[in-house]
Amino acid sequence: MSTQMKNPFDSKEFLKKRTYSNDNSFAFVVFGASGDLAKKKIYPTLWALFRDDLLPSNTYFIGYARSKLTVDAIREKAEPHMKVADSEREKAAAFWEMNSYVAGSYDKADDFVKLDEAIKATEISAPANRLFYLALPPSVFADVTRLVKEKCMAHDGAWSRVIIEKPFGKDLESSDKLSNHVSSLFTEDQIYRIDHYLGKEMVQNLMVLRFGNRIFGPLWNRDNVSAVVISFKEPFGTQGRGGYFDEFGIIRDVMQNHLLQILCLTAMEKPATTNAEDIRDEKVKVLRSISKIKMEDVVLGQYVGDPNGEGDAKLGYLDDPTVPKGSRTPTYAVAVLYVRNERWDGVPFIIRCGKALNERKAELRVQFRDVPGDIFNGATQRNELVLRVQPNEAVYMKMMTKKPGIGFECEETELDLTYGSRYKVVV
Ligand code: NDP
Ligand code: BG6
Repeated sequence: MSTQMKNPFDSKEFLKKRTYSNDNSFAFVVFGASGDLAKKKIYPTLWALFRDDLLPSNTYFIGYARSKLTVDAIREKAEPHMKVADSEREKAAAFWEMNSYVAGSYDKADDFVKLDEAIKATEISAPANRLFYLALPPSVFADVTRLVKEKCMAHDGAWSRVIIEKPFGKDLESSDKLSNHVSSLFTEDQIYRIDHYLGKEMVQNLMVLRFGNRIFGPLWNRDNVSAVVISFKEPFGTQGRGGYFDEFGIIRDVMQNHLLQILCLTAMEKPATTNAEDIRDEKVKVLRSISKIKMEDVVLGQYVGDPNGEGDAKLGYLDDPTVPKGSRTPTYAVAVLYVRNERWDGVPFIIRCGKALNERKAELRVQFRDVPGDIFNGATQRNELVLRVQPNEAVYMKMMTKKPGIGFECEETELDLTYGSRYKVVV
């Protein structure tokens, strides 16, 4: 299993202080540069790193996909997702100057030779360190990694790294096949397997909230917690990603990675240190303790169009032209999981996720048990600790207080740590 959290506590200050001791240039290759991930997350992130001077100055970005595109076309797709202040326009132009684009297939050696030449064009005084990001459907991971190895590896002492997106296969067999294939080509320290939810502020915060506070530890167990609910909702559908999505469905796309990672960080024991391997070991124990999910504990669904809705809301999953006719692939799933260990036995972990729902939201809710020996005639609600991953990151504790004033009425209120109010910078 991979080390999913490489250096979780790397700070900007640390990165800024890091020096690069030679003149190697750096080539960041985005495979699938024409796609959804590239425009929504990869290019905006590269821009943010460039803007904040967190990359070596001789870093070049090379997009690669089959579509016949130009850098301007990629810029047009990505810009709506990038945060560029008016004062940063010039810097943004400088960022795009560092970009180039190569159109090619994912399975032809000649095209990878072209890519290699484009990387070599950035090698002015020394070979380039090369980082290959596979923002691609898993169906082409094997060909692309093979051809990278054959035609595009760094030379003369420079390094190469490969970043692979989830899902890593669609079942145990295909996952093993992919893992064996990738490890036959690269050493483990050349391979990065990404789950971008591990980069989210609130997901990382789970470690500190749980293990950096005394108050939660004693309550974090089956004696005090009645249920844990982890939700992911998105207000848009596949939007032309049907080619990828239909083969995998919402369980493989979101549930088995993003939501399970949150579940593991919520349920695991305290790791020996904050090192990636120690955290990974604790997560594995949680996964091993989860009992087989029963079909009666699962609900699946597929979104349909709303004839009275506006714009995209009129369209159902099957109306997306990239989705095969008659597909029964789920776009919505809820499952109840049980972690059969001493801490959690009997506590339901309800995980649910869906596309084309009413809002964008990802959150974790830890619901506590009723207060024993009620003296308020049933007027109290259960406490709930909520971690809102997005939008508007927040941690809040729902709790009972006395309604201020004369009388003795109970009222539910919140201890609220909304990041936008408390912190100036939310990454
Ligand atoms: P896309 O469907 O947008 O695919 C990316 C690119 O791959 C497309 O632009 C297309 O480029 C090429 N492509 C699409 N389908 C095929 C196919 N069947 N065979 C060969 N090439 C194809 O997917 P995403 O960008 O959304 O996702 C890519 C990867 O990133 C997936 O593994 C996904 O799980 C992961 N991911 C996506 C996120 C997102 O927000 N979209 C977030 C986190 C992870 P061209 O035709 O030009 O070659
Ligand atoms: C990706 C899925 O992993 O996560 C997409 O492939 C989904 O289908 C995306 O839209 C959601 O990411 P975020 O960061 O926008 O919540």
